[in-house]
Amino acid sequence: MITEPQVREKLATIKYPGFSRDIVSFGLVKNIRIEDGTDVVVQMSLATNDPTVPQAIKTGSEAALAQIPGVGSVTVRIDIQAPPQAPAAGTAPMATAAIEGIKHVIAVASGKGGVGKSTVAANLAVALQQTGAAVGLCDCDLYGPSIGLMFGSNERPMATEENRILPIERYDLKLMSMGFLLDDAAPAILRGPMVTKYTQQFLRQVEWGALDYLVLDLPPGTGDIQLTIVQTVALAGVVIVTTPQEVALIDARKAATMFQKVNVPVLGLIENMSYFLCPSDGQRYDIFGNGGGEREAARLKVPLLGQIPIDIPTREAGDRGQPVTAANPGNPVAQEFLKIARLLCQTLPH
Ligand SMILES: Nc1ncnc2c1ncn2[C@@H]1O[C@H](COP(=O)(O)OP(=O)(O)OP(=O)(O)O)[C@@H](O)[C@H]1O
Ligand SMILES: [Mg+2]
Repeated sequence: MITEPQVREKLATIKYPGFSRDIVSFGLVKNIRIEDGTDVVVQMSLATNDPTVPQAIKTGSEAALAQIPGVGSVTVRIDIQAPPQAPAAGTAPMATAAIEGIKHVIAVASGKGGVGKSTVAANLAVALQQTGAAVGLCDCDLYGPSIGLMFGSNERPMATEENRILPIERYDLKLMSMGFLLDDAAPAILRGPMVTKYTQQFLRQVEWGALDYLVLDLPPGTGDIQLTIVQTVALAGVVIVTTPQEVALIDARKAATMFQKVNVPVLGLIENMSYFLCPSDGQRYDIFGNGGGEREAARLKVPLLGQIPIDIPTREAGDRGQPVTAANPGNPVAQEFLKIARLLCQTLPH
């Protein structure tokens, strides 16, 4: 007799293509039936436009299930839904936007950690707001939230009577972060399914109101949170942050490829910590080498949206809780963020 837990255990060895997460914990398996004690019938469901994904999952699952001792026939059926679609430029966006009232959801991602995603997300949100748009910023890094720190806020958000969370407001931006809901010392120990649930709740249960742009600060890499977001939110696109050295570029490429695979447009690359303008001798130092971002953008056939230097005021402003673009709009880094924001507004008009 084959049992359901046996089948589930086998299926849990299959990873979602391109991700570290297995198909069971991600909730793709909808039903398992054992017929006549030995024949296994599995029903799965997933959202994708890429036919190679269900094919790989089906082939992998069938091969794994065939290894169960005494198994008879193995049938894996996959119900494929279209992923949420971002509204095409120029169409009525409100009708099709996945989060009500939000025109464009832009994710800020990176392959490698610590390359400056949160710094870029915060300053980009401020710069988009400076172009006259209504902007929100959501810290989706449940494990290491940092938007609260970057905006100098640890306010607890209030809830409405309908149990919707009201975002915090700073510099005319609407902010939401897991950090607002956690104590400073409490680490966010969340297992896969909880992460999926919190991420969903975060995006759907926040009372964003009408926004032109919602910027999502993602955690590094291609894990649960990224997968949940691409499967459930109609992203207008993703901006990939990298630093110029080869180790970061390799990971940036992986992240970009992952998003392209799931049909999320890569709006471009931002090279952070590109160079250092020495305040004492005025010289430019290419600390992490030169031209990496440009080469990678060309290889990925996406625009290089901008190059942000290593800048002491930028770091200080971030640590002080005032993004440099808000605190000191005349700073060259702030100007670069404004340039990037204007480029994005051309692709995704508000
Ligand atoms: N252009 C820059 N110049 C100077 N310091 C910077 C710059 N960009 C980021 N930093 C600093 O580097 C540190 C890491 O940046 P940040 O937290 O934005 O990275 P991250 O990619 O979001 O990290 P994680 O992967 O942990 O989420 C911060 O202290 C930030 O102030
Ligand atoms: Mg971060």
